[in-house]
Amino acid sequence: MTLEKKEAVQLDWENLGFSYIKTDIRYVATWKDGKWDEGILTEDNQISISEGSPVIHYGQSCFEGLKAYRTKSGEVQLFRPEENAKRMQRSCRRLLMPEVSEEQFLSAVKEVVKANERFIPPYGTGGTLYLRPYVMGVGDSIGVAPANEYIFGVFAIPVGAYFKGGLTPTSFIISEYDRAASQGTGGVKVGGNYASSLLPGKEAKQRSFSDCIYLDPATHTKIEEVGAANFFAITKDGRFVTPDSPSILPSITKYSLLYLAEHALGMPVAQEDIYVSQLDLYEEAGACGTAAVISPIAGIQHGDNYHVFYSETEVGPVTRKLYDLLTAIQFGDKEAPEGWIT
Ligand code: COI
Repeated sequence: MTLEKKEAVQLDWENLGFSYIKTDIRYVATWKDGKWDEGILTEDNQISISEGSPVIHYGQSCFEGLKAYRTKSGEVQLFRPEENAKRMQRSCRRLLMPEVSEEQFLSAVKEVVKANERFIPPYGTGGTLYLRPYVMGVGDSIGVAPANEYIFGVFAIPVGAYFKGGLTPTSFIISEYDRAASQGTGGVKVGGNYASSLLPGKEAKQRSFSDCIYLDPATHTKIEEVGAANFFAITKDGRFVTPDSPSILPSITKYSLLYLAEHALGMPVAQEDIYVSQLDLYEEAGACGTAAVISPIAGIQHGDNYHVFYSETEVGPVTRKLYDLLTAIQFGDKEAPEGWIT
């Protein structure tokens, strides 16, 4: 389609939050007869699918989240989009959906960013353009079996902070629910993981927590995830640690922080068990992810105990350094490790 030049959009860029805003253009491709078509760019944000679609009944769907950042000079850059393409391929394989090639994924993302240029928040506002690629099983079907047809789409929305308060520390509560089974689908980004997190998240918010923290499903003794984000902590002896388990989603932000803590801050780093009974070992804690970026954790409620980390109101110094470093790279203010910026 030919893109007509539209007027600048007026949004409250500094206070965007994380909610759906209809932007100009999205990308939609269809898989039929064994292959993906080349896809189209469309203004239409509605999708019509068969009532028999496996996505509706059996949750055959996965998605990704990545961001486009406007730099000081006005250019636009993506942060490690190849990692999202690869992770989506792993999600597709787990749900027996056809993979989208890295090339098609990257080209769709870039086209959507370009077509929605006027929605990319200005540099300095903290806002970004969040890209949401997804794949779902559609078509006339009813048995518990992979779909005959699939849709791959990418849309974009301007976003600010995911957790209210951004870098202000907030509190979380340990959930009694499990997010995903030990050898289940926790390690891939599939819709069902997020559907099952809605009730625990709602109950946590009703009690005025930002979200809940999930323990490992097998023993309920080790921290796994923070709502829809990964968990990290700084030990009292200055190590950067994050849990490692097959039921945790491998966050691209988490792996970036592991690298930056080690190579830029010179810290020992580890992926290791973090026992909820040993929170005294940690000086600082936080949630990290594409949407969450880095959100400091003030404290964790576990049963009747409330454990405070660094401070209930102040960001810890290491969390602050990591946040500044990561966002400086993402917004183009600091040189990135090779291959991180497109
Ligand atoms: C992300 O961090 O991009 C996510 O997908 C988490 C959430 C918003 C579902």
